[in-house]
Amino acid sequence: MTNAGKSATFWENHYSRLDDQWGTRPNAVLKDLVTALTTAPGTALDLGCGHGGDAIWLATHGWDVTAVDVAQTALDRVAAGARATGVSDRVHPARHDLAESFPEGQFDLVSAAYFHTPVDIPRALVLHRAAQAVAPGGLLIVVEHASVAPWSWQAGQDVRFPTPAESLAALHLGDGWQTERCHAPQRTATGPQGQIATVTDNVLALRRTP
Ligand SMILES: C[S@@+](CC[C@H](N)C(=O)[O-])C[C@H]1O[C@@H](n2cnc3c(N)ncnc32)[C@H](O)[C@@H]1O
Repeated sequence: MTNAGKSATFWENHYSRLDDQWGTRPNAVLKDLVTALTTAPGTALDLGCGHGGDAIWLATHGWDVTAVDVAQTALDRVAAGARATGVSDRVHPARHDLAESFPEGQFDLVSAAYFHTPVDIPRALVLHRAAQAVAPGGLLIVVEHASVAPWSWQAGQDVRFPTPAESLAALHLGDGWQTERCHAPQRTATGPQGQIATVTDNVLALRRTP
């Protein structure tokens, strides 16, 4: 099986077993960044959207969102959630294996929130491509795990996470970007069985200069 097939298989299996309400709430860090760093809604690209908590929240705040995932089961739930919320005209689910293909166009906001996978994919290249999809004046948001939650597939493993500065450097942005956020805040997270833990995120918010 190719890695493309592996991503679809792994994540379809994941979502087919998952409570369809898990991940339907927006990530607090995404909400805070969008509220603080944007002045008006525009077009948004949500990479690895999962059950669409972020995509639907953005749409309810006026954004026109392309919501991308490799798992059709997740995308079907995003579409259903958008219909139920009355924003299906502003949420466009799109299936891509981002290691293989990427949506066309440029967007005022490109977000990759916890775009992690146990499948071996060229993640840094995907995030570099994500930066290229940001329109002038637009924002790139990357939020990633910087600690292992007890319910993570990495629990018990000795994982070394990059620092925020290392994650920023790995994007190879070049000139024409302003760093709005590059830090590693802690937050309280809730696991699938309701477990509570303090975790750390790497948070990058980068504005493409007009
Ligand atoms: C850890 S989940 C995060 C989901 C969501 N962004 C959130 O914050 O809850 C990672 C997501 O990336 C998606 N994904 C993983 N590999 C992918 C790939 N190669 N192409 C597109 N999506 C992928 C998964 O299906 C999953 O929905």
